[in-house]
Amino acid sequence: MPVFLRRLGQLLAVVMLVLQPAGSLEGQCPVPDIPHGRLKPAQNFTYGSTVTLECDAGYIPVGTSYVSVGTSTLRCMASGRWYPRTPACTLGHCPYPPAIDYADRGPQSEFLVGTNVIYSCRSGYTLRPDVSPITTCLTNFTWSAIPKLCQKARCPSPVILHGRELSPRKAEYTFGQQVEFQCDLGYVLRGGQKIQCSSDGTWRPPVPYCDKECGPPPKIARGQHSGSRTEPFHYGAEVKYSCAQGLSLVGDESIYCTSEDGVNLTWSGPAPECKVVRCPKPVVQRGRMTPQRFTFPYGAAVPFSCDEGFVLRGDAESRCLADGAWHPPLPTCQPVLCPRPQVPNGRLKSTLDGKVWYPTNATVTFECLQGYHFSNDGNPSLEDSRTATCLPDGSWTPLPTCKEEGDADVCEEVHYIRTTFECGVPIAEVKTLLEIQKLFLEIKKLKVELGNLNE
Ligand SMILES: *[C@@H]1O[C@H](CO)[C@@H](O)[C@H](O)[C@H]1NC(C)=O
Ligand SMILES: *[C@@H]1O[C@H](CO)[C@@H](O)[C@H](O)[C@H]1NC(C)=O
Ligand SMILES: *[C@@H]1O[C@H](CO)[C@@H](O)[C@H](O)[C@H]1NC(C)=O
Ligand SMILES: *[C@@H]1O[C@H](CO)[C@@H](O)[C@H](O)[C@H]1NC(C)=O
Repeated sequence: MPVFLRRLGQLLAVVMLVLQPAGSLEGQCPVPDIPHGRLKPAQNFTYGSTVTLECDAGYIPVGTSYVSVGTSTLRCMASGRWYPRTPACTLGHCPYPPAIDYADRGPQSEFLVGTNVIYSCRSGYTLRPDVSPITTCLTNFTWSAIPKLCQKARCPSPVILHGRELSPRKAEYTFGQQVEFQCDLGYVLRGGQKIQCSSDGTWRPPVPYCDKECGPPPKIARGQHSGSRTEPFHYGAEVKYSCAQGLSLVGDESIYCTSEDGVNLTWSGPAPECKVVRCPKPVVQRGRMTPQRFTFPYGAAVPFSCDEGFVLRGDAESRCLADGAWHPPLPTCQPVLCPRPQVPNGRLKSTLDGKVWYPTNATVTFECLQGYHFSNDGNPSLEDSRTATCLPDGSWTPLPTCKEEGDADVCEEVHYIRTTFECGVPIAEVKTLLEIQKLFLEIKKLKVELGNLNE
């Protein structure tokens, strides 16, 4: 070795000695403090020696890969320093967690020792019972064992009474499988005919059931019903009948699939019939009706009214029945009658007029009893007879009144005088008024007598 190089080495050694930290042994590297790790051998780190850094389980020497078993080699340099520089242990980590069939894992991207990763089953799969979906990064940098985690979603075996599955029955059904059903004869399927096992382990649509059905609805001659041949007739189904042109439907237009015993389904009633039904034009003497036709079909309703002076007896409306008769029976129009008129203190002049009822336009003649006379608005009349006529509405033209001769006028006068006094008219004036009244009556009487003389 050249002399200068040896000199240089001696010089460097001196420099290193100077730089060496206090308390360290001469010619040795310092004893480092290493959490979660230790050196082997544990002392006598002379220059140039190599030692092994051993980390605790789950830890690895800094700067090494996790694949190593947690040890690395250190060299004590002639400078009194370690190489690599600072020996330390750090928490190791696991590789990516394994892929599990039909499962996805949580979103973590760092997998330090002790990390838990949770798996969840994909749609259509369910976690097997008694299996934990959690795996842990172990201290030997492997993942704790994961058994088979997810299984296809299972649906319970569908049960259908009075029906069967079209394909051979299985003990168990899994996600996506389909089942089709058919009901026994006399039963109708209610719900979906085809169902599928869904991802949550239920059937969609729900398992159907077989309900009793009504047999085909009765056929009718010269008419048809609305139920098609293939249609199932479940409870409540309605079938409507119609007749060929020109025929009348007699009976209920619709029948319904119903149950009388609560068990078997039957039609609510007999089918209607299609018949030729013509009711003759109803004839009501002295009556009127609408519409005006020569014949009427089944069910037609005709209202009646009577001519003036006639009154309807019976029902004002009648219907054409299936047998061609009208119901209720046709009414009649009876002439309107007036009851025998009554006049107080008077009587009918002709004793032949002693009827109880009088027809329209009948005229009767009255006379007043002895001592009474007819009155015109309170004034006496000297006529010895008056008439009244029976009107089309059953009433009489105004009936006459018979008043007691004299008395009535005297009473009216007294009444008049009393009211005049009550108004405060002086007695002298009243006297004058009475004189005038007397005079007026005298004149009137004279006129009548004169008239009688002239006849
Ligand atoms: C230290 O190592 C040297 C040489 O390798 C050896 O001679 C010495 O006995 C060792 N000392 C101890 C205390 O082990
Ligand atoms: C890791 O440790 C677990 C539990 O201590 C053990 O079952 C497994 O076999 C170990 N794996 C390896 C690769 O040593
Ligand atoms: C229902 O119908 C079946 C078959 O037609 C019959 O045997 C049964 O007695 C009926 N049930 C009732 C309650 O009528
Ligand atoms: C009553 O007399 C009137 C007028 O003369 C006539 O138009 C009507 O038809 C008569 N009524 C009856 C019911 O005879």
